[in-house]
Amino acid sequence: MHFLGEDLTGKRVLEIGCGSAPCARWLAGQGALPVGLDLSMGMLERGLAAMARGGPRVPLVQAGAEALPFADASFDLACSAFGAVPFVADSALLMREVARVLRPGGRWVFSVNHPMRWIFPDDPGPAGLTASIPYFDRTPYVEVDADGAATYVEHHRTIGDRVREIVAAGLVLRDIVEPDWPEWLDREWGQWSPLRGELFPGTAIFVTEKPGS
Ligand SMILES: C[S@@+](CC[C@H](N)C(=O)[O-])C[C@H]1O[C@@H](n2cnc3c(N)ncnc32)[C@H](O)[C@@H]1O
Repeated sequence: MHFLGEDLTGKRVLEIGCGSAPCARWLAGQGALPVGLDLSMGMLERGLAAMARGGPRVPLVQAGAEALPFADASFDLACSAFGAVPFVADSALLMREVARVLRPGGRWVFSVNHPMRWIFPDDPGPAGLTASIPYFDRTPYVEVDADGAATYVEHHRTIGDRVREIVAAGLVLRDIVEPDWPEWLDREWGQWSPLRGELFPGTAIFVTEKPGS
């Protein structure tokens, strides 16, 4: 599926929460003009190291997705693969920021863990099939280090929350894609497994557009 469009040649694309920028580098290989943005210099350094080994090179920017350091309407497309969206407390602000930097008619496509996944423990086996957290509980999941400082924070939003934030940012929701578990994939890793994948979706992809042309 080509959520960002069939022909990416010359398209200015902002990748949000790019990590080591595998998506931005792939987009550059398709003829697009991507910029990768991430909060973590460590992740961007991995991207720089990967580019030094070969392949397309893309500009990388260290910044938070809640205050994008770009002018209004400076991108044709924006995307995120499990990037910043679940990691910011104010994802409504992030939606507004992306809407601001997109040109009218531009598209914003982002993937997150499917909100349904929140209610199940991170266990790929049978224990991961029993709901244990209320879907409506927005209390963030937090991991802390020995000093009590947060090292990982993930914010749950329901499907309805996401739709409301998209609409409030002035964007039009075109689709919510819930990919099936691929039939050929029989491996399990981390929290993912064919056992769970057969029963409920792991990923939700939101396809949105900024009105205008
Ligand atoms: C799960 S990783 C996904 C990385 C990449 N998209 C990929 O598919 O490999 C999430 C990324 O979001 C970044 N991130 C988290 N909060 C952010 C924020 N507020 N602004 C920008 N990036 C953020 C993290 O540093 C991390 O690189």
